Amino acid sequence: MSNEIQQSSEIDTALENLPADANLPTTHSSSAVPMEASEEASSRTAINIQNLDSWYNNLDFQALHDVCLRFEKNHVSALIGPSGCGKSTLLRWINRMNDVVAGASVRGTLQMGDLDILAATTDVVDLRRRIGIVFQKPNPFPKSIYDNVAFGPRLHFNIGKEELDELVEWSLKKSALWGEVKDRLKKSALGLSGGQQQRLCIARAIAVGPEVLLMDEPCSALDPASTARIEDLIYELKEQYTIVMVTHNMQQASRCSDQTAFFFEGKLVEVGDTTDVFRNPKEQRTEDYVTGKFG
Ligand SMILES: Nc1ncnc2c1ncn2[C@@H]1O[C@H](COP(=O)(O)OP(=O)(O)OP(=O)(O)O)[C@@H](O)[C@H]1O
Ligand SMILES: [Mg+2]
Repeated sequence: MSNEIQQSSEIDTALENLPADANLPTTHSSSAVPMEASEEASSRTAINIQNLDSWYNNLDFQALHDVCLRFEKNHVSALIGPSGCGKSTLLRWINRMNDVVAGASVRGTLQMGDLDILAATTDVVDLRRRIGIVFQKPNPFPKSIYDNVAFGPRLHFNIGKEELDELVEWSLKKSALWGEVKDRLKKSALGLSGGQQQRLCIARAIAVGPEVLLMDEPCSALDPASTARIEDLIYELKEQYTIVMVTHNMQQASRCSDQTAFFFEGKLVEVGDTTDVFRNPKEQRTEDYVTGKFG
């Protein structure tokens, strides 16, 4: 596949050519899906996912099945589930990173306000400014601490030196790193500890003014002290941003998130308030997973 997102019509054509007994989702188009239950719910929703299906290897493998889910503004949503259940796949469609995966395709609706995220006409560079992502392994650029944070603003905004200095300082303060790096801004980011690098990646993500922060296991490579710092940070950042966090750490999900979504084999099994999902799950599989019986 090219960098172009594979469109529903192409997927439908390809699906028609598969054997009759292939295990396929019910056919639907995004236009057939009622988008909002109420205007109030709509105004609280940062991202609305409707009937999302996703495949890899040119439709050979379906990684997500009919996922419907909302992420509320200024909430932390945790995505949990065993390895391979599709958590990262979902994040990677939300900021269109899967566009560059050969053979990956998607069908359904991903809406951010008025923006149809999956539309071929969506400006992906601007989308990734509005929806930042932080990965499991911190990935600072091999540049100075300052240049890491300044990279996005230089790319997206016409910004003078003084304003850029202020923005770098603001981002590093917001990500609770300023005190530790303010005297070494011109030093290489690669000289920072893992926990500091992860906070730098968060600073880099927020420097361009995103609305949503996606975090894919942001603490799994960190020691307990760094993990605690990032968790505190997540709590503070949600005042300003909508956060979607993948985690394998059940304590972390219950400590940090407002909403938890449990996935199993590409399907959303259960979603609800985090306290309900952990204390009073509706589904047996959720209970088994959150109590550590599998996964
Ligand atoms: N680039 C790819 N090409 C083919 N298959 C892929 C690709 N990326 C992921 N998959 C498959 O899609 C499924 C979902 O993968 P995904 O990475 O979304 O899982 P995950 O829930 O994030 O797992 P983990 O907890 O291990 O990170 C898996 O079966 C995986 O092997
Ligand atoms: Mg993953």
